[in-house]
Amino acid sequence: MGARWRYRVGGWGILAAVLLLGLPWLAVGQEREPERIGADLCLLCHAENAPGWYTLRHNRFRATSNAPEMLQGCEGCHGPGQAHLEDENFRSILNPDNETGWTAVAMCFECHSTTMKSSAWLQSTHALADVNCGDCHEMHSDLGHPNLLREEPNDLCLSCHRDQTAQFRLPSHHPVLEGNMRCVDCHDPHADGMLHSPMLKQSDDRCLSCHQEKKGPFVYEHQNALGGGDDGCLTCHKAHGSANSKLTAFYGRGTCLQCHADISADPAHQARPGNCWQAGCHNRIHGSNNSRLFIN
Ligand code: HEC
Ligand code: HEC
Ligand code: HEC
Ligand code: HEC
Ligand code: HEC
Ligand code: HEC
Ligand code: HEC
Ligand code: HEC
Ligand code: HEC
Repeated sequence: MGARWRYRVGGWGILAAVLLLGLPWLAVGQEREPERIGADLCLLCHAENAPGWYTLRHNRFRATSNAPEMLQGCEGCHGPGQAHLEDENFRSILNPDNETGWTAVAMCFECHSTTMKSSAWLQSTHALADVNCGDCHEMHSDLGHPNLLREEPNDLCLSCHRDQTAQFRLPSHHPVLEGNMRCVDCHDPHADGMLHSPMLKQSDDRCLSCHQEKKGPFVYEHQNALGGGDDGCLTCHKAHGSANSKLTAFYGRGTCLQCHADISADPAHQARPGNCWQAGCHNRIHGSNNSRLFIN
C-alpha cells in the first residue's frame, strides 16, 4: 500500500547537513562498514515529519527496553543511514513502504516476536495483500490513537473496507458505526488468514463471549445439534448486518428451511402465518429447558 503521507524535507537542513557531514564522506569514497549517523542528523532534514520524536512513547520505550543500540533511533528501523547521505538522490535507505513480505516488517519483529508470531503474520490476509505495519500504525508521531494507530480503530478499518460500512447500515446490525463495538472485537488484524479465515479472533466463542445466555446448557439443545461454537450461529445469523430482523441470514422461515425443508410440505405448519419463532411457536430457538420443540 502507498504511504498515507509524504515527507517534505527542509532545504536549509539538507544544505547544512550535506556541507557539514556529507562532503567529507563523499571525498573518502571507500568501502566501509555501514555507519549510523544518529537521529539528530536524520531530524535535521526530516523534522517536520516526526514532530515530538524525542517524547514519542514508542521511541522512549525502545530506548529503555534494553534493546541494543543498533535497534534504537530512526536507524533501528531504517538501518544505518550513512549511505543515504552519500546518495545524491537520497535513496539507499530502507523504506518499508517500498518493500514487501518479510523485508517490510523484519525491523518490527526484532523486538515484537514475543507477542506476535512472524509466521502467522506472513500468512495473514493483510500481509499477503501488502498491507503492512506502517499502513495501520504510525511510527513517527503520536496521533493520540490507541496502540499507535493512524486512526481510531473502526475508522481505520473502514477507511479501506468501505463495503462493510454498507453492511453495518442495514436495518439489523451490530452497533459498530454507533461506536459501541469494534471490528477488532471479532477480528484480529494480525491473524493467520488461512487458519482463522477471514482473520477472525482465534477463540471459537467469538459470539458467545458477549451472548453467553445463548450457550446454555439447556435441557433441549438446538445449537449443539448444529455443531456448537460460532459456526452454528453463522448458519442462522449474519455477523455484520442484515436486511432481516435480528441479523437473521434469510427472510422469515427461510432461515429454518435451510435444514427443515420437509416442514414446508407439512399442512399443519403451512396453515400458520409468520416466522417459525413468532406467534407463540418455536420462540426459544437457541435452546429450551421446557420443550423439546423449543416452545418456551
Ligand atoms: C541531508 C538531509 C537528509 C538527512 C540527514 C537524512 N535524509 Fe532521508 N531523505 C532526504 C531526502 C531529500 C529524501 C528524499 C525525499 C523525497 O524523495 O521526497 C530522503 C528520503 C528518505 C527516505 C525514503 C527513501 C526512499 O527510497 O523512499 C527514508 C526512509 C529516509 N529518508 C530516512 C532517513 C533516515 C532514517 C535518516 C537518518 C539516518 C535520514 N533519512 C537522513 C534527506 C535526508
Ligand atoms: C519503529 C520503526 C521506525 C522508526 C523508529 C522510524 N521509522 Fe520511518 N518508517 C517506518 C515505517 C514502517 C515506514 C513506512 C510507513 C510510513 O510511511 O510511515 C517509515 C517511513 C519513513 C519514511 C518514508 C516516508 C514515505 O513517504 O515514503 C521516512 C522519510 C522516514 N520513515 C523517516 C524516519 C525518521 C527520520 C525517523 C527518526 C526520526 C524514523 N523514520 C524512525 C518505521 C520507522
Ligand atoms: C490492518 C491494520 C494493522 C496492521 C497491518 C498491523 N496492525 Fe498491529 N494492530 C492493529 C490494531 C487495530 C490493533 C489493536 C488491536 C486490539 O485492540 O485488539 C493493533 C495492535 C498491535 C499491537 C499491540 C497489541 C499487541 O498485540 O501486542 C502491536 C505490538 C502491533 N499491533 C504490532 C504490529 C506489527 C509489528 C505489525 C506488522 C507486522 C502490525 N501490528 C500490523 C492493526 C494493525
Ligand atoms: C527496538 C525495539 C522495537 C522495535 C524495532 C519496534 N518496537 Fe514496537 N514496541 C517496542 C517496545 C519496547 C514497546 C512497548 C511495549 C510495552 O508497552 O510493553 C513497543 C510497543 C509497540 C506497539 C504497542 C503500543 C501500545 O499502545 O501497546 C506497537 C503497535 C508497536 N510497538 C509497533 C511496532 C512496529 C509496527 C514496529 C516496526 C515498524 C515496531 N513496533 C518496532 C519496541 C520496539
Ligand atoms: C490500508 C488498507 C487496510 C486497512 C487499514 C485494513 N485493511 Fe483489512 N484488508 C485490506 C486488504 C487489501 C485486504 C485483502 C483484500 C480483501 O480481501 O479485501 C484485507 C483483508 C481483510 C480481511 C479478510 C477478508 C477476507 O475475505 O478474507 C479482514 C477480515 C480484514 N481485512 C479486516 C480488517 C480490520 C478488522 C481492519 C482494522 C483493524 C482492517 N482490515 C484494516 C486492507 C486494509
Ligand atoms: C460480531 C463480530 C464481527 C464484527 C464486529 C465485525 N466482523 Fe467482520 N466478520 C465477522 C465474521 C464472523 C465474518 C465471516 C462471515 C461469514 O463467514 O459469513 C466476517 C467477515 C468479514 C470480512 C470478509 C468479507 C465479508 O464481508 O464476509 C471482512 C473484510 C470483514 N469482516 C471486515 C470487518 C470490518 C471492517 C469490521 C468493522 C467495521 C468488522 N468486520 C466487524 C465478524 C465480525
Ligand atoms: C463484543 C461483543 C459482541 C460480540 C463478540 C458479538 N455480539 Fe452480537 N451484539 C452485541 C451488541 C452490543 C448487540 C446490540 C444489542 C442491542 O442493541 O441491544 C448485539 C446484537 C446481536 C443480535 C441482535 C440484533 C438485533 O437486530 O437486535 C444478534 C442476532 C447478534 N448480536 C448475534 C451475534 C453473533 C452471531 C455473533 C458472532 C458472529 C455476535 N453477535 C458477536 C455484542 C456482541
Ligand atoms: C437455528 C437458527 C439459529 C441459530 C443456530 C442461532 N440463532 Fe440466534 N436467533 C435466531 C432467531 C430466529 C432469532 C430471532 C428470535 C427472536 O426474535 O426472538 C435469534 C435471535 C438472536 C439474538 C437476539 C434476540 C435475543 O434473544 O437476544 C441474539 C443475540 C442471538 N440470536 C445470538 C445467537 C448466537 C450467539 C448464536 C450462536 C451461539 C445463535 N444466535 C444461533 C436463530 C438462530
Ligand atoms: C443448520 C441446520 C438447522 C437449521 C438452520 C435449523 N435447524 Fe432446527 N434442528 C436441526 C437439527 C439437526 C435438529 C435436531 C434433529 C432433529 O430432531 O431433526 C433440529 C431440531 C429442531 C426442532 C426439534 C424437532 C424435534 O422433533 O425434536 C425444532 C422445533 C427446530 N429444529 C426448529 C427450527 C427452527 C424454528 C429453525 C429456524 C429458526 C431451525 N430449526 C433451524 C437443524 C437445523
